[in-house]
Amino acid sequence: MLPLNSAITRRLLGAGILTLTAAALAMGSRPKAADDEGVATRIQPVGRVELAAPSVAVAGSRTGEELVKTVCSACHLTGAAGSPKIGDNAAWAPRLVQGLEGLVKSATAGKNAMPPKGGSNASELELMRAIVYMTSKSGGSFKEPAEKK
Ligand code: HEC
Repeated sequence: MLPLNSAITRRLLGAGILTLTAAALAMGSRPKAADDEGVATRIQPVGRVELAAPSVAVAGSRTGEELVKTVCSACHLTGAAGSPKIGDNAAWAPRLVQGLEGLVKSATAGKNAMPPKGGSNASELELMRAIVYMTSKSGGSFKEPAEKK
């Protein structure tokens, strides 16, 4: 679905396959009494490393695209909960007239089914970038704000 998510999924799947292979090998060479606890212990470190590994950008430094793909798309990709869908220029047109400031204000505060900041911990700059990115695909042409606001 989303490139980032699928990359994570692939890694987790890969880790899972390695773990299963390791568990199968271990079972073959040990009595069946290699109990569940032993298996759990062997599985655990692999899972922990793999979950920490994907370099999801640190909060505060995400690009608009990153934030949209990891957070906003949950609703805005499909138009879930009555959200204006990315790419649906007609749904966005009446909102774009508020200007970037107005959109940032309402996205920060939340609006009806939209939670404040889309339920994320985005900084104002990140939120702005996300809105610029999202609206740029929906008939808008706002300029991305400079690094220091
Ligand atoms: C839980 C679902 C959900 C998520 C997640 C979400 N939104 Fe929304 N968003 C909505 C809904 C629903 C609306 C329409 C609100 C209305 O006008 O009733 C909306 C509207 C908006 C609007 C237009 C506001 C206006 O004044 O017309 C902007 C801008 C926006 N979202 C930005 C974002 C950004 C940026 C993110 C990610 C950081 C995000 N949204 C994540 C549901 C969501």
